[in-house]
Amino acid sequence: MTTATPKASPKTAGVPRTLMLIDGARVESAATEFLQVENPATRQAIAEVPRAREEDVDRAVQSAARAFETWKRVAPRERGKLLSKIAEAMEAQSESLARLIATETGNALRTQSRPEAKASADIFRYFGGLASELKGETVPLGEHLLSYTRREAIGVVGGIIPWNSPVLLGALKIAMSITAGNTLVLKAAEDAPLGVLMMAKICADYLPPGVLNVLTGYGEECGAPLARHPLVRKLSFTGSTEVGKLIMHAAADRVVPVSLELGGKSPIIVFPDADDDRTVDGVIAGMRFTRQGQSCTAGSRLFLHRSIFDSLLGKLADKLAALKIGDPTEEATDMGAIINRKQFDRVCAYIEDGLRQKDARLLLGGLPPREGPLAQGYFIQPTVFAEVRNEWRIAREEIFGPVLVAIPWEDEQDAVRMANDSHYGLAAYVWTHDIGKALRTAHAIESGWIQINQGLGQLPGHSYGGFKQSGIGREYSLEGMLDSFTQRKSITVNLEH
Ligand code: NAI
Ligand code: MG
Repeated sequence: MTTATPKASPKTAGVPRTLMLIDGARVESAATEFLQVENPATRQAIAEVPRAREEDVDRAVQSAARAFETWKRVAPRERGKLLSKIAEAMEAQSESLARLIATETGNALRTQSRPEAKASADIFRYFGGLASELKGETVPLGEHLLSYTRREAIGVVGGIIPWNSPVLLGALKIAMSITAGNTLVLKAAEDAPLGVLMMAKICADYLPPGVLNVLTGYGEECGAPLARHPLVRKLSFTGSTEVGKLIMHAAADRVVPVSLELGGKSPIIVFPDADDDRTVDGVIAGMRFTRQGQSCTAGSRLFLHRSIFDSLLGKLADKLAALKIGDPTEEATDMGAIINRKQFDRVCAYIEDGLRQKDARLLLGGLPPREGPLAQGYFIQPTVFAEVRNEWRIAREEIFGPVLVAIPWEDEQDAVRMANDSHYGLAAYVWTHDIGKALRTAHAIESGWIQINQGLGQLPGHSYGGFKQSGIGREYSLEGMLDSFTQRKSITVNLEH
């Protein structure tokens, strides 16, 4: 495992404490230990949160198990109404929520954190409205039999989320789990727990105690015991493929269903007719440059037709150079900071690896400045390597930073073969106005979500999830909720008896 166990943090003077949510109460950890949350743009501690361990996990799971007995019997319509109220409260507080997200994640307020806060409220509204769609079927087994199915809740869900869009991903796990009648123990990421705790507080104003419990702590100390807990009946994880495999092992030990939303190295394929500004804007959006590339959906391998390779890259470099990097809470800022020192060092190591490749051409960016205002935080400029080969590490591994690799192609089949030559398969982007080429390519690519002529984010209603090692299961949609957060029970009645 990569996650080192840090020493217990000493109390940080002058830094506010934010507490966890267990059994309806805002609590410290049993051991009264805390961990610090840092603003990655300034490297200053901004808050401390409880450092939960196994004992706290157990308390939260026991509470969720008790609450399940009542919550599963609440009419879905009534559950849905509570979610709609949460959506309204989230919306009313969305600006302060957005500022908190920007401060703890380094994600720019205007381009990222504000849209995330708004989208999170929408997720509660969407799933709340769907509550009555938890329908079963009748099965025609013969005139003398009445056979029907019910969609029943599974029980206590263990949810584990990362830091890259913490509130949105937390909102999804909460809304899908509890709309379907489950109760949830959600573990926030150690780097971005504050927005999630604020959302938990809002939810707790409407939900009965124990329906939602939110823990803060490290992966091995808090996430692992949650994944192993015998009363947890379903696991839903978003994060690295490496930890996803551990979660699946833990699920296998107890035969519990698991949803995994993991990493990606998604391709963008550009055909010769799409050498224009719209494509360039779409590539920048698809690569999530304004979230510092920290997105599982990032289109981080750019396959450009040889005939437009230099021309499109020239336009791309001009637009990227104009992005304003800096204080995430400033309205004018397009792009903020990388989440923490570990990820910053990791991204820098990939850039060094790219610089060492003799045939690669650094088009823009490179290693971050060591002096000046940007050296105060974990800032990395948009970086593009041209003439990259698909077999190099920078083209194969998920960098999770603002580093794009551009790979030339001449033959359409070759482009698709390279796009599919990856153990990931989360997203993909195709740029061309030739409908036949666009759809042929979309059908040939091994990915869970393909966008043609756009590079946007997921919307509620859309079944999102990966092929291959990018994950298992679909979330974000009605079908995703039904498939991943309910279990079907069949009941057969003999009418002749
Ligand atoms: P991670 O997968 O270690 O962390 C995600 C969550 O899992 C956090 O809440 C963490 O505390 C928890 N966790 C860590 N170890 C655990 C364990 N043994 N048992 C249970 N829970 C555990 O991701 P990390 O270390 O923050 O980032 C590393 C890389 O993962 C990134 O560079 C990126 O490639 C990928 N990643 C992908 C994400 C996605 O959305 N698909 C999100 C975050 C990271
Ligand atoms: Mg990790």
